[in-house]
Amino acid sequence: MEIYIVVTCNFAYTTTILFLIFLSILIYYLVIKSQNYTKSKYKLPPGSMGWPFIGQTLQLYSHDPNTFFSTKQKRYGEIFKTHILGCPCVMLGSPEAAKFVLVTHSHLFKPTYPKSKEKLIGPSALFFHHGEYHSSLRKLVQSSLASPYNLQKRVADVEALAISTLHSWLTAQDQLVNTFHHLKKYSFDVGILSIFGHLDSNYKDQLKENYSIVNKGYNSFPNNVPGTTYQKALMARKRLKQILSEIMLEREEKKIADKDLLGHLLNFKDGKGKALTRDQISDNIIGVLFAAQDTTASVLTWILKYLHDDQKLLQAVKAEQMVIYQENDEGKKPLTWKQTRSMPLTHKVILESLRMASIISFTFREAVTDVEYNGYIIPKGWKVMPLFRNIHHNPQFFPDPQNFDPSRFEVPPKSNTFMPFGNGVHSCPGNELAKLEMLVFIHHLVTQYRWEVVGSQSGIQYGPFPVPQNGLPARFWKESNNFIQDFFPPN
Ligand code: HEM
Repeated sequence: MEIYIVVTCNFAYTTTILFLIFLSILIYYLVIKSQNYTKSKYKLPPGSMGWPFIGQTLQLYSHDPNTFFSTKQKRYGEIFKTHILGCPCVMLGSPEAAKFVLVTHSHLFKPTYPKSKEKLIGPSALFFHHGEYHSSLRKLVQSSLASPYNLQKRVADVEALAISTLHSWLTAQDQLVNTFHHLKKYSFDVGILSIFGHLDSNYKDQLKENYSIVNKGYNSFPNNVPGTTYQKALMARKRLKQILSEIMLEREEKKIADKDLLGHLLNFKDGKGKALTRDQISDNIIGVLFAAQDTTASVLTWILKYLHDDQKLLQAVKAEQMVIYQENDEGKKPLTWKQTRSMPLTHKVILESLRMASIISFTFREAVTDVEYNGYIIPKGWKVMPLFRNIHHNPQFFPDPQNFDPSRFEVPPKSNTFMPFGNGVHSCPGNELAKLEMLVFIHHLVTQYRWEVVGSQSGIQYGPFPVPQNGLPARFWKESNNFIQDFFPPN
């Protein structure tokens, strides 16, 4: 009897599964193919959609994503369709196509993120929006983060953070430091500085603790089961909102119109004179912290690796920075804004690292209507992905692309071929701050420290941005005084 039930159940189960598979294949072909037939004038881009529903998600996520993109590009050309994470999408590997989506026809494409991620950052954050709300808020964020006046004011504080970060590495056990992990602390502190100016250390610690839980949950499987990483992140998100409310209340009570990002957000009025709600302000603060931390820390980690791997280049960067160090009385005087503007080789090292590492390999948008591009149709609701990394690694625009060569930036890259900070209406408003943060850090690193990478020297980890394997564990030492004499021998 028991056996009979099991067999019957198994039979029913198998039939149901087969029926569901058949139904999904049918729906898939009806939906995808019908779009091909109804758009008679234009055709869908070439490419394979893979299996029903799962599409090519496994191929993309089980391999190095660069291999996935370049194999497709070789086979189908610079625009091809595929099916990722349950969504049909079109990938774009040419500068013209990226410009079309991000700049000239950006009104036809809106930003798109999974709801689970939107919930963690906050639905009112700048990068989820499109249109009026986005453009007025963006102006405010841009003027607060990127105006030369505000950047100049930040140099001394950023420098203090760089000095204390590096100093703390000397006291690490065996001087062994997980570079990426520690640089995340630095980039978080710079983010806090640009949002709040000088913030009470108690608030800072609370924000740091809760934000790191949110950050961990961002790439975890989204579910609300208590104890899971995602659910813990949602709880931490609630606490962050509470802490931010307290900070805002204190600011309002003090009635001081601070010139930092929080001050700008609190004073903001839209065209109809309406202020932002507390929730909108919190979402945008968390959004900026999110955009600022892992990005800058990943790029700086790569810079340390590239310089370590090319000792000749490192010596040349040291020579450039030692001139400034000597000018500043061996680091006794603070760096000036003007000095940060005259570090040509270091600046080129940063640009080449941004190209080489291309930590934001691509971005996502969604077509808000059927869009025609170059004889193809991109149907409404489909995702589009401009592939920054592919463009940055295309030998047509960057000869010998796997070779780390800062001198290639002696000539400006062709337009729309270099987009480490994106392009168009959603391009990064923190780009100048990020560069300043990196320049100041490199100045102190190369003039006063030596480092040696420990363990594996190759390999990339995706978390989600690419970083050197295990976050680049390294040992750091303070340079001896003899080192200064190597650069400036006494007469
Ligand atoms: C090396 C470091 C950084 C890199 C490589 C980077 C890269 C990018 C890219 C590629 C985008 C555009 C994404 C898209 O089009 O979908 C972006 C947007 C953004 N970034 Fe950055 N970023 C960096 C640092 C920063 C910093 C330090 C801040 C703030 C302090 C920041 C704030 C933002 C914000 C708020 C946006 C959204 C802009 C919008 O939607 O209008 N970023 N970033």
